[in-house]
Amino acid sequence: MQVSASEPRIIHLIAGARPNFMKIAPLFHALRKEAWARPLIIHTGQHYGANMSDSFFTDLELPQPDFSLGVGSGTHAEQTARVMLAYEKICLQEPPHLVVVVGDVNSSLACALVAAKLGIQLAHLEAGLRSFDRAMPEELNRIVIDTLADWLWTHCADADQNLAREGVEAAKIKRVGNIMIDSLEMLRPKIETAETHLEFKLKPQEYMLATLHRPSNVDDLSNLQKIAKLLGELGRKIAVIFPIHPRTRKNMESSNIDPNRIEGVLLCDPLPYRKFMSLLFNCKLVLTDSGGIQEETTYLGIPCLTLRENTERPVTITLGTNRLCNLENAFQFCCQTLESPRPSAKVPEFWDGNTAARVVLELRRLFSNAS
Ligand code: UD1
Repeated sequence: MQVSASEPRIIHLIAGARPNFMKIAPLFHALRKEAWARPLIIHTGQHYGANMSDSFFTDLELPQPDFSLGVGSGTHAEQTARVMLAYEKICLQEPPHLVVVVGDVNSSLACALVAAKLGIQLAHLEAGLRSFDRAMPEELNRIVIDTLADWLWTHCADADQNLAREGVEAAKIKRVGNIMIDSLEMLRPKIETAETHLEFKLKPQEYMLATLHRPSNVDDLSNLQKIAKLLGELGRKIAVIFPIHPRTRKNMESSNIDPNRIEGVLLCDPLPYRKFMSLLFNCKLVLTDSGGIQEETTYLGIPCLTLRENTERPVTITLGTNRLCNLENAFQFCCQTLESPRPSAKVPEFWDGNTAARVVLELRRLFSNAS
């Protein structure tokens, strides 16, 4: 099917922070094959440097961003405002036909606000997720983005229900699936040959993987001390590979906790996508507070304990391998999981590697209707 237009539709794909890169990559690659579309990558610079940004562009075979806003770190207001100021200039110079924001980070919120205020069509990929916990910065971002978006692309049934409950018109909501699984499947052959565990002198299933960066876990000294103790206790049971997030490292170091000296814990810097996914594929258990890892473990059938009071991804608990835990029961839950057979899990509908193709179909339909 052709979209009738003399000029290609300019589509801005917004990526700011690490979890965004694997969500825009499949869409960029799919849109680049379409004559009617001109996808442009806007990198806000919320995450920067080799570990948190550049290596993801390499692994995901993305070209250099078309626009780099270079906003860097700051308070929520500083970061959001800086992205808005820089992104508005770009939109004023050459307004795109559509802005696509993914996920729930501050960069997505900022660009959504700019697009909506300039009257540019806005799509939210991964719409409708709710933790119902407004103390989480990401929950506020999700609510605002979904209120502003013209098109809400969801990845599970509960997201559709959340949006319907909030009064979003059914015609704006489309279940397209989980785009992160597209990246995983796109890179599967390269992930399977990476064997990152060998760099730690470990065999598959001989280790667990820990990632922790949520403000609710790592911005509080007493929690940080409990986390260091927990990781040390787990390290006496099984090797714990801990790729440490910059926020966690900074907070540990300023609280006089030396993350390099937790017994049994193999500390490393944040890893590139392919190397990290290789560790995930071969690990026995994951302890995390990440959103995306809850989904990737469910897809792969790997046991996951999520160190949070709630999750905006309940399908990973009801269908998948995920279980919530807290600092009081995490050790016991980890031990139980290590000693049990793998849980049986189902993969939610449309988590199949074909989400970008469904988004492209949807865009053809939207642009055809508009022309
Ligand atoms: C952000 C997202 C969170 C996502 C996480 C993934 C928001 C509100 N939060 O949290 O949803 O799960 O990214 O990583 O958008 N820093 C560096 N290098 C970097 C980036 C950050 O050293 O490339 C340090 C800075 O000191 C910064 C701190 O980490 O102050 C936190 O970074 P920030 O982007 O503000 O939030 P994250 O905790 O990464």
